[in-house]
Amino acid sequence: ASQSEEKDLVIIGGGVAGYVAAIKAGQEGMKVACIEKRGTLGGTCLNVGCIPSKSLLNNSHLYHQILHDTKHRGIEVGDVKLNLQQLMKAKETSVTGLTKGVEFLLKKNGVEYIKGTGSFQDEHTVKVELNDGGETSVTGKNILIATGSEVTPFPGLTIDEQTVISSTGAIALEKVPEKLVVIGGGIIGLEMASVWSRLGSKVTVVEYLDQIGGPGMDTEVAKGIQKILKKQGITFKTGTKVLSGEKTGDEVKVQTEAAKGGKEETLDADVVLVAIGRRPYTGGLGLENIGLELDERGRVIIDAEYRTKIPHIRCVGDATFGPMLAHKAEEEAVAVVEYIKKGYGHVNYGCIPSVMYTFPEVAWVGQSEQDLKKADIPYRVGTFPFSANSRAKTNLDTEGFVKILADPETDRLLGIHIIGPNAGEMIAEGTLALEYGASSEDIARTCHAHPTLSEAFKEAAMATHAKAIHF
Ligand code: FAD
Ligand code: NAI
Repeated sequence: ASQSEEKDLVIIGGGVAGYVAAIKAGQEGMKVACIEKRGTLGGTCLNVGCIPSKSLLNNSHLYHQILHDTKHRGIEVGDVKLNLQQLMKAKETSVTGLTKGVEFLLKKNGVEYIKGTGSFQDEHTVKVELNDGGETSVTGKNILIATGSEVTPFPGLTIDEQTVISSTGAIALEKVPEKLVVIGGGIIGLEMASVWSRLGSKVTVVEYLDQIGGPGMDTEVAKGIQKILKKQGITFKTGTKVLSGEKTGDEVKVQTEAAKGGKEETLDADVVLVAIGRRPYTGGLGLENIGLELDERGRVIIDAEYRTKIPHIRCVGDATFGPMLAHKAEEEAVAVVEYIKKGYGHVNYGCIPSVMYTFPEVAWVGQSEQDLKKADIPYRVGTFPFSANSRAKTNLDTEGFVKILADPETDRLLGIHIIGPNAGEMIAEGTLALEYGASSEDIARTCHAHPTLSEAFKEAAMATHAKAIHF
């Protein structure tokens, strides 16, 4: 085994959390090593998560729109065919371009990129089993655990990524399944249901709770998007528990039961997607060698400065607390390096946007109406529908609305919830407003360009403290 010079920071995991921390630390003049076992950088997000799923969402939407949404716009198209292989190739081109770009950025910032699997030998030494064979070790004054997450398995249904798939299989199917059953109506479930339903599958989503969208989505929004997705052809079974699944040959039978007890049903599928959440991944890290424990959900326990109980070992991203989102991991990665280098850093956890990239998109930031009710916080609501927005009408895409929740006394924003085309871009304005402690009147008195979808945001703000003009 060889040993390189001692680093200021050794990072285990080259996902969004790990690579962003590596670049930031390099920029701060620190000596950095980043260990990644996958063979490419960017982690779940770039390789099998955010990026490939958005490529498929974008192109399946185009396909679906060309098939079903052109005639009334005055566009007559001829023979439209799906070339699934090329669709997947386009996805791979995006992924490869971005992962290579990250590798270039690590090099540019002087980061040593070690391709292999890292595990703790002691509190300052990480042993690396190199992907190309052999072993090395690297010592660090500081060590960052950024090992991410993995799919939560469904008991009794072994994932083979062909018939029983996780999101990783769902972004790489070689043919369009005839019948796809999705277990879990959270964000992964709904994004993948959208992709395959647009490409021709008959999709049924089974969700345990009474509402889809996963944790955090405002109930009114969840109901709204469910109606829209249903119109697009997706079948929903909410308030329904999956009891078990059984694979026989090329088919899977999924046994369900009403969540509150009672009615049982068997669903037939040729592909079943397991999307019931993700769990932190710390397998093979050798945490036992340094006495680090996990909480009951497998998360690395940290304090407000991302320190484990061994102060120079820290953890950020999916492997620890908080929403499992790439931009959350990125914010933490910058903050943890600032803590190490300067002693202070900051992430505003009340101000992390969520986006679901269905069509239309769903986006929100801050608190939902049910959160506020539960916490007994008074609020005022203002909404504005896209059916009254000139740009949405021009584009013939009028589904959805903007909903703003604000404090009835001070008018300070509490939450912003949008269903609409481009909601994912529009939420940035809401996030900035929330971060700056804006009131709904601040937004209402800010000039917005005409005709844009963002005028719906301004008008929802007008409706929150006074009255909208166009509705
Ligand atoms: P990861 O990205 O999981 O990276 C951890 C890396 O560590 C992995 O590459 C792994 O190989 C490596 N590793 C683990 N153990 C070791 C070891 N011992 N040695 C060396 N390397 C190791 N989030 C969004 O914000 N927007 C989206 O649109 C979005 N879409 C998603 C779609 C899907 C299908 C999925 C599954 C997730 C999506 N996410 C999205 C979530 C996002 O991918 C994660 O929040 C993000 O990747 C977390 O970053 P991370 O660096 O903490 O972990
Ligand atoms: P999730 O937690 O969002 O949703 C899982 C859903 O499955 C929940 O609604 C839950 O009630 C349901 N469920 C659990 N057990 C069930 C059962 N036995 N039967 C029926 N339903 C059951 O998890 P998901 O969708 O797997 O996503 C994992 C993570 O990935 C999320 O934390 C999400 O933030 C992230 N992600 C983010 C994306 C984005 O930002 N656009 C896209 C994809 C993933």
